[in-house]
Amino acid sequence: MTDESRRVFLKNAGTALGVTAAVGCGFSLYAMKRTWDPLPSVVAGGTTTVDTKPLLAGVPGQVEYRGKPVFIMKKTSTMTANDDRDVVVDGARFTVLLLDCTHLGCVPIWQHGVFHCACHGGAFDGDGMHTFGPPPRPLEIPPFRIDGARLILGEEGPEYRQLREASLALDSGQGEGQEFG
Ligand code: FES
Repeated sequence: MTDESRRVFLKNAGTALGVTAAVGCGFSLYAMKRTWDPLPSVVAGGTTTVDTKPLLAGVPGQVEYRGKPVFIMKKTSTMTANDDRDVVVDGARFTVLLLDCTHLGCVPIWQHGVFHCACHGGAFDGDGMHTFGPPPRPLEIPPFRIDGARLILGEEGPEYRQLREASLALDSGQGEGQEFG
């Protein structure tokens, strides 16, 4: 191979490598964006308003509420209804949970129907009830008000107050005798 042909070969190989890397990077960014796409929401004056109409059952999503992530998922007809934890908006049941571990505040990750907290191995079930490890309480349901199909995080409506009382009752029953760490 002459010097000239070697130079052309290396130049073409470099270009091909650059294109491959760019395409791969593009696919990764696209996949990340699809995974972390936030739900359509409006943030104003300390509240986050979510229009639940376009949300699909069984598809987890996330919004930001006062700087913290909130998990929102419409339940499918095969998921177990939980009158003490479900947020019912316009006739549909939703799981709405502040992703703020009740142990030391890490962000639990939704995986295969449960929430795992990587910091100290805590776990919560699909309704946010603590099932394993050091978390002393269930994941919190942020304050909310319902206006038609809109869920307004940051305002306390009667449905929220009712769930909060049920949650406190559940917690005092489940939390007894559970000392960790
Ligand atoms: Fe979640 Fe410790 S912060 S288990």
